[in-house]
Amino acid sequence: MRKKIIAANWKMNKDINETSEFVYAFRDEMKSYDGTAEVIICPPFIALDAAAELLRESPFILGAQNLHYENDGAFTGEVSARMLKSVGVSYVIVGHSERRQFFGDTDEVVAKKVKKALSSDLNVILCVGESLAERDGGVTEKVLERQIKAALEGLTPKDLPSLVVAYEPIWAIGTGRNATPQQAEDAHAFIRRTVAGMFGKEVADSLTIQYGGSVKPENAAELLSQPDVDGALVGGASLKADSFAKIVKSSSR
Ligand code: PGA
Repeated sequence: MRKKIIAANWKMNKDINETSEFVYAFRDEMKSYDGTAEVIICPPFIALDAAAELLRESPFILGAQNLHYENDGAFTGEVSARMLKSVGVSYVIVGHSERRQFFGDTDEVVAKKVKKALSSDLNVILCVGESLAERDGGVTEKVLERQIKAALEGLTPKDLPSLVVAYEPIWAIGTGRNATPQQAEDAHAFIRRTVAGMFGKEVADSLTIQYGGSVKPENAAELLSQPDVDGALVGGASLKADSFAKIVKSSSR
């Protein structure tokens, strides 16, 4: 059985007060939840410490949205794996398309971040996904294969249980236009085959692959019912406790 993982990517939203308001409300919404999905909440760096405290007695897991691949040093504005560990972070998102697009996270940088996170005992949510031009140009699989191979090259099968892949078509992020369940399923199955080619079928079969891009309470159940869709990475709809709770709950239907 693959782990189902639903993660909230808050991006650059919520200060410390808003973070605690959310956590109180979300814990309330989830009081009667008896499903098995793992829930990860990824606030901005400044709210990690407060969120860690608030989540301490809960089953919910703390994640970060980025890291630097060096341990320490003259990298103004950056945060290292060791620092994330010290506030109680267990997961880190790497290679989000917004990082690739706006902050120079090339395939090479993404690979270094994946390696640093894993060697620091952090679990990774690795994001991959094609642009609209790439989908329309028929190169979706080529792009996914390049991103997966670049990010995972040099890892060994024993690294893979600490890794989650999130398929996030860029044209579906923040646009309200989600991939159809079939488009998601096709991409997820392709990602799984690519990982099987690198690390073997057994490893690939147990890899959690999340879908991300305009996931909402209204479309979550259908997307999550696809055989290769093992969870969701949720942006906009994770900012409200009730809508994020609805998405988590729809994962166990
Ligand atoms: P969205 O973002 O749910 O707002 O489309 C998803 C993501 O970027 O992770």
